[in-house]
Amino acid sequence: MKAIKLNQPGGLDKLDVVDMEAPGEPGPGEIRVRLHASSLNFHDYAVVAGMIPTDDGRIPMSDGAGVVEAVGDGVSEFAVGDHVVSTFFPHWLEGPARVGDFRTTPGDGVDGYAREQVVRPAEWFTHQPKGYSHAESATLTTAGLTAWRALVVDGGIKAGDSVLVMGTGGVSIFALQFARLMGAWVIATSSSNEKLARLREMGAEHTINYKETPDWGKRVKELTNGEGVDHIVEVGGPGTLPQSFDAIKIGGHIALIGILTGREGEIPTAKLMAKQASLKGLIVGSRRHQIEMIRALETFDMHPIIDREFPLAEIADAFRHQESGQHFGKICLTF
Ligand SMILES: NC(=O)c1ccc[n+]([C@@H]2O[C@H](COP(=O)([O-])OP(=O)(O)OC[C@H]3O[C@@H](n4cnc5c(N)ncnc54)[C@H](OP(=O)(O)O)[C@@H]3O)[C@@H](O)[C@H]2O)c1
Repeated sequence: MKAIKLNQPGGLDKLDVVDMEAPGEPGPGEIRVRLHASSLNFHDYAVVAGMIPTDDGRIPMSDGAGVVEAVGDGVSEFAVGDHVVSTFFPHWLEGPARVGDFRTTPGDGVDGYAREQVVRPAEWFTHQPKGYSHAESATLTTAGLTAWRALVVDGGIKAGDSVLVMGTGGVSIFALQFARLMGAWVIATSSSNEKLARLREMGAEHTINYKETPDWGKRVKELTNGEGVDHIVEVGGPGTLPQSFDAIKIGGHIALIGILTGREGEIPTAKLMAKQASLKGLIVGSRRHQIEMIRALETFDMHPIIDREFPLAEIADAFRHQESGQHFGKICLTF
């Protein structure tokens, strides 16, 4: 079978297409999956670009979707022919967060899904939403579930709430879609006026160009009668948090998800205190969260926005496209 291997010290020129021995029959509790799609996340980029060192020869990509080819003894949840999608934390099945690093995450601490076949314990996967393509399903493992957890699980979003989403990457576009699905209204930002027009087409009530309006927190307040928004899906980190503290409503919820502006920095803590807002970090979610999200996606027939699909062998080009920042929503690999 074909697979992608990442040679250290990493870099887009260090991704090799290799022939690997196909996995054998699944053991007790395991399934063999013929993978057909993956999707690119900033985290995958950090791995392949060498920002996160891994073992030499690591198979990258955290997201994987495909068809069950064989089931081992004792597997009752899946049958041959079922369409399945991987989970981000294979050992966090349900309950409160249990893991704060990527040691068990496919494509980082263990081999991922840039390959045609894999044998894994059945609980490393869930069913795909009915009516989804493999590429659509592959967007759910990381980006979809992160946005779902930020707004629905941790944020407790209600109809009529206001939500700020930042930029037009995978997580943010999912957050816009989930906010609309839950009956909330959205203010969205982007560096591109073209993308802002697309955000409005997708239902964003107001849009702000964060490059042209660097003090966008003030603008968010103006757009909310001086109150601020109930929820912020924060993908920027230290460089954007000061604006988010301006933009959040008193008692609001900021889901701290991303570090697009850096890993650490100075933030106005007194302002956060005065706003009496919660600032909660999160990393993706549990298998149970994924099952609940998929139930909602099926109920509302919501589909992800895929910017572009690349064949597996063109993985480096796919990451170059992500690096260019031209994408809107998700970039996928299909194989
Ligand atoms: N904690 C978690 O569980 C989790 C899960 C997934 C992702 N993340 C993190 O969330 C962030 C986004 O991930 P992703 O996979 O969605 O990335 P992505 O698809 O690569 O999206 C990046 C987009 O972010 C926007 N952006 C860049 N700098 C910005 C800034 N200063 N202010 C506002 N928007 C900015 C840009 O949108 P425009 O082109 O429209 O300006 C860019 O296209 C990353 O830091 C990633 O590590 C965390």
